[in-house]
Amino acid sequence: MERTAIIPGSFDPITNGHLDVIFRSSKLFDKVYVAVLSNSAKSPLFSLEERVELIKRVTGNFENVYVESFSGLLVDFARKKNASFIIKGLRAVSDFEYECQMALANKNLAEDVETLFMTSSPTYSYLSSSIVKELAKHNAPLENLVPDEIVQDIYNKYKNV
Ligand code: PNS
Repeated sequence: MERTAIIPGSFDPITNGHLDVIFRSSKLFDKVYVAVLSNSAKSPLFSLEERVELIKRVTGNFENVYVESFSGLLVDFARKKNASFIIKGLRAVSDFEYECQMALANKNLAEDVETLFMTSSPTYSYLSSSIVKELAKHNAPLENLVPDEIVQDIYNKYKNV
């Protein structure tokens, strides 16, 4: 049986921390879906279409990684894709409480879908999309924080602000 995993998130924008979890997951599962949340309460810097496109651009070399948007419940998306695993990256203990709550809520909705936590690589343990946006706003370097191919897209968002 094919083992399929979902990596959900807002990805506003994708960081090297996200990419690290996607890459490592792609080695463990037959298929990995990066699921980009479309109806986030937050008002994102990048539109849904832009976020999907940026992720596709930087995961193009991973043969078993697919990028899609989703709305509604994550477990419904997982069922639609026949995925039995949700992968969440954990950077620090501070991530754990919220992620544990989400994992239990999802387990309550779908007994057959397991959430697995993947520890961030130490290099990325402080990294988040919010930090990247804060740095970009002040024109600070983004090298090593996000893939080179998307650095300019991020700066461009702040050009005329
Ligand atoms: O990158 P984020 O913003 O931390 O990702 C959050 C995400 C997309 C994983 C989470 O908001 C989510 O799964 N939303 C879909 C709604 C849902 O299924 N919630 C869980 C049950 S309450």
